[in-house]
Amino acid sequence: MPPKPEILAAFEAAKGFMPLDEGLALHAAAEEAAGLGLPLLEVGTYCGRSTILLAAAAREAGTTAVTVDHHRGSEEQQPGWEYHDASLVDEAVGRMDTLPVFRRTLHQAGLEEHVLALVGRSPLAASLWGRPLGLVFIDGGHTDEHATADYEGWVPHLAPGGLLVIHDVFPDPADGGQAPYRVYLRALESGEFTEVSVTRSLRVLRRGPVAA
Ligand SMILES: C[S@@+](CC[C@H](N)C(=O)[O-])C[C@H]1O[C@@H](n2cnc3c(N)ncnc32)[C@H](O)[C@@H]1O
Repeated sequence: MPPKPEILAAFEAAKGFMPLDEGLALHAAAEEAAGLGLPLLEVGTYCGRSTILLAAAAREAGTTAVTVDHHRGSEEQQPGWEYHDASLVDEAVGRMDTLPVFRRTLHQAGLEEHVLALVGRSPLAASLWGRPLGLVFIDGGHTDEHATADYEGWVPHLAPGGLLVIHDVFPDPADGGQAPYRVYLRALESGEFTEVSVTRSLRVLRRGPVAA
């Protein structure tokens, strides 16, 4: 089922970069994966735009969305770079801080109770995590170092039948950075995943065994 109108409205009102068609594909994946009854994990909270969709699907299934971010922004969100938003700088410390906006977004969407927000670096959170996940959504740092660490840190926790979702997969270098694409290829080449859907730059893969 598509997200409820109030969830879609909250998604569209939230700061972030994900277009609607990718959001609908992410929500469909989250809805399916939530059926496993396991938590849904996101790397890259930013201001909560995509978290809203994971949280709504988790709420419907009685599970939880877990989202990890240090909230200091990725490389391309720093001052002087293409995706910088000056309104997100904490003047007191002179660094980006997306946590307050994320919390407001989640509160306004009525989804706070369905989300566990981890504030810190993704590899550290992954190293401390100890239970199976129904979905892993990789949308954190887009360098090879970060995307690879996210894949290696979180995919071992993905349950059989769980979904791996990767954002900003650009086969053509003219369209964007290649690190998420390389992680996507690595997942396919591992033989452990089959592709479920392609929506613009959002790829959904299922961890075997393949569902009937
Ligand atoms: C592209 S944004 C996420 C967008 C969000 N998923 C959405 O659709 O609205 C990437 C986020 O990843 C975070 N990030 C980058 N590298 C990280 C790391 N190693 N650990 C935790 N968070 C990281 C940044 O702070 C940034 O907020």
